[in-house]
Amino acid sequence: MLDLSGKVAIVTGASRGIGRVVATTLAARGATVVAAARGDNASATVQEILAAGHAAEMGTVDVTDPASVDALVAGVLERHGRVDILVNNAGITRDQLMLRMKRDDWDAVLDTNLTAAFTCVQAVLKTMVRQRSGRIINMSSVVGEMGNAGQVNYAASKAGLIGFTKAMAREVASRKITVNAVTPGLIETEMTQAIAEKAQVYWAAQVPLGRIGTPADVAAAVCFLASDEAAYITGHVLAVNGGMYM
Ligand SMILES: NC(=O)c1ccc[n+]([C@@H]2O[C@H](COP(=O)([O-])OP(=O)(O)OC[C@H]3O[C@@H](n4cnc5c(N)ncnc54)[C@H](OP(=O)(O)O)[C@@H]3O)[C@@H](O)[C@H]2O)c1
Repeated sequence: MLDLSGKVAIVTGASRGIGRVVATTLAARGATVVAAARGDNASATVQEILAAGHAAEMGTVDVTDPASVDALVAGVLERHGRVDILVNNAGITRDQLMLRMKRDDWDAVLDTNLTAAFTCVQAVLKTMVRQRSGRIINMSSVVGEMGNAGQVNYAASKAGLIGFTKAMAREVASRKITVNAVTPGLIETEMTQAIAEKAQVYWAAQVPLGRIGTPADVAAAVCFLASDEAAYITGHVLAVNGGMYM
């Protein structure tokens, strides 16, 4: 089993869906997890982790607000003096066909899904460079690889994260910091509940492995990339999509 004992991990968007299971899985492997979302939204995740006998703290963050990100990271550094793992998972959709998409829909998705990764990485990077170690994992999407009608904003943000991941990986490799992306396919969460049932059935039928993914499928990939065993993997885009795009 991958052992993350002694590691301090920050997971954004940990109040529900993929981020919540990433947080509980990292904690089950021994990491102290700062489960972050807006307000006290991540408190149930933290309670779940503590109830299982693992280590967690609640983080309050709006990833679109640099001051809020800085405050989150400053608190972690004050309490632990280090950050070993950053999972940039917080994300939103504002789906609309291009002809009807409002500038606000574009800005909100780019701010939350892409610019926030820039903000969060800047907040932890000095510490990781000083440590000469770190794991940064960016939650991209299969949509960033293959596109999807009605999601130009989301696809652009997730494709942007892949470029960001590769450029960052090159920049910090000499400091033994790895930067990787995970591209989930269709995963069962609140985000995908918003997709019409008919579309869900269509997409599930496109998956060679014959089912929609679970947050646990994604969390397993994140845990691997966060582990010592993945020390020689950087700039990689790990697809967790049941084969729907290959
Ligand atoms: N579900 C899928 O099929 C799928 C597929 C590919 C990629 N992904 C990606 O995986 C990630 C998680 O998706 P999900 O399906 O688990 O989504 P979800 O259930 O909608 O959860 C989204 C999470 O992001 C957080 N969040 C949103 N805006 C935030 C902000 N401004 N500041 C801080 N936290 C914020 C939410 O926290 P609050 O409690 O604060 O709202 C929540 O914890 C996203 O990046 C998504 O794009 C999902």
